[in-house]
Amino acid sequence: MPDPLRDSPFMRACRREPTPYTPIWLMRQAGRYMPEYRSLRERVPFLDLCKRSELAAEVTVTAANRLGVDAAIIFADLLLIVEPLGFALEYTNGDGPVIHNPIRRSHDVERVRELTSVEPLDYVLRAVELARRALPDNIPLIGFAGAPFTLASYLIEGGASRNFIHTKTLMRTDGGAWHELMSRLAHALARYLNAQIKAGAQAVQLFDSWVGALSPDDYRRYALPYTRAVIEQVAPSAPVIHFGTGTAGLLEAMSEAGGDVIGIDWRIRLDHAWQRIGDRAIMGNLDPTVLLADVATLRQEARAILGQAQGRAGHIFNLGHGILPQTPVQNVVALVEAVHEMSALPGREERTSNMYEENLFGGDHESTL
Ligand code: CP3
Repeated sequence: MPDPLRDSPFMRACRREPTPYTPIWLMRQAGRYMPEYRSLRERVPFLDLCKRSELAAEVTVTAANRLGVDAAIIFADLLLIVEPLGFALEYTNGDGPVIHNPIRRSHDVERVRELTSVEPLDYVLRAVELARRALPDNIPLIGFAGAPFTLASYLIEGGASRNFIHTKTLMRTDGGAWHELMSRLAHALARYLNAQIKAGAQAVQLFDSWVGALSPDDYRRYALPYTRAVIEQVAPSAPVIHFGTGTAGLLEAMSEAGGDVIGIDWRIRLDHAWQRIGDRAIMGNLDPTVLLADVATLRQEARAILGQAQGRAGHIFNLGHGILPQTPVQNVVALVEAVHEMSALPGREERTSNMYEENLFGGDHESTL
């Protein structure tokens, strides 16, 4: 029986099966760069927006439909889980998220509640359900959570950080407290991701956005075991995208931690990264600032990435990090169209990668790029 969700280009790419064109979606595809989102935000504070499931689902679906992307990501936030863990979360205008009672000493770790039930996050699960129902039946919905290290860094720093001084100090000076904290987070995150899958997400993404701050040895020692524990517990039916930024020194270790798809940023070439992660799918990796340039430039940059991927099965096009608020919407639409058009070559599903390269760079297609 045909199953349009299972057979969608995004899901096929997660499994490294050939696709008629390269699927694309964009991190932060629903957000402040969209005028509709900004006008909604004038009336509704960010946290309220996340908690009103109907609105969160609507934002999710509207963005995906408007852009013509191959997957939707549920509109939520990495930090929502900190409330049921016992932390006071606030989104301040301009300064980003703040946690008012961060972990500073070892004994603060005892305050981190076990997430015995996902009920306090029911509003996210309800948004997943509603978004799944409203999306076209061939557009997968991605659920997500922060990876243990990135989440721990917010709990410890109390907000965004440059040098992660408190996080790294705790990690190095009290191994017992660190292990306890990271184990509790891993347990809570796995539960939360599985609940999103049960509610209707076809795939999940773990955001380890700040893991690039770690040395390779520290990553292996202080982060990898806990990320691995989360990924091992995720229901096998849903592919896991394991994303991080600044990970050029960590790619082998990140792959060992797991993930069907490894998400990379623009600080490394996609072809080099792909060699290093082995038999996995890859997601990336356009610099988000390219979307601030003109359409001819962004097409050229997108084409360079497609050229590095060579049409190999298992490439999901994305930015290397989230869309910037200053981005013109029409450039995002142009990028999605460009990736679809430039990667959809006749016979792509049967061709060898060499033929693809010839077509892409030598043939008639050149003139349309
Ligand atoms: O990608 C999507 O479209 C789904 C929605 C999504 C949001 N946050 C919405 C959001 C996702 C996947 C996230 C993940 C997230 N949240 C991460 C990891 C991704 C990354 O950027 O590395 C992190 C670190 C957070 C924490 C967070 N939330 C920060 C640091 C900020 C403030 C910075 C900023 O960009 O405003 C937020 C707020 C936030 N999360 C907004 C959105 C749309 C902006 C809130 C607003 O409307 O003012």
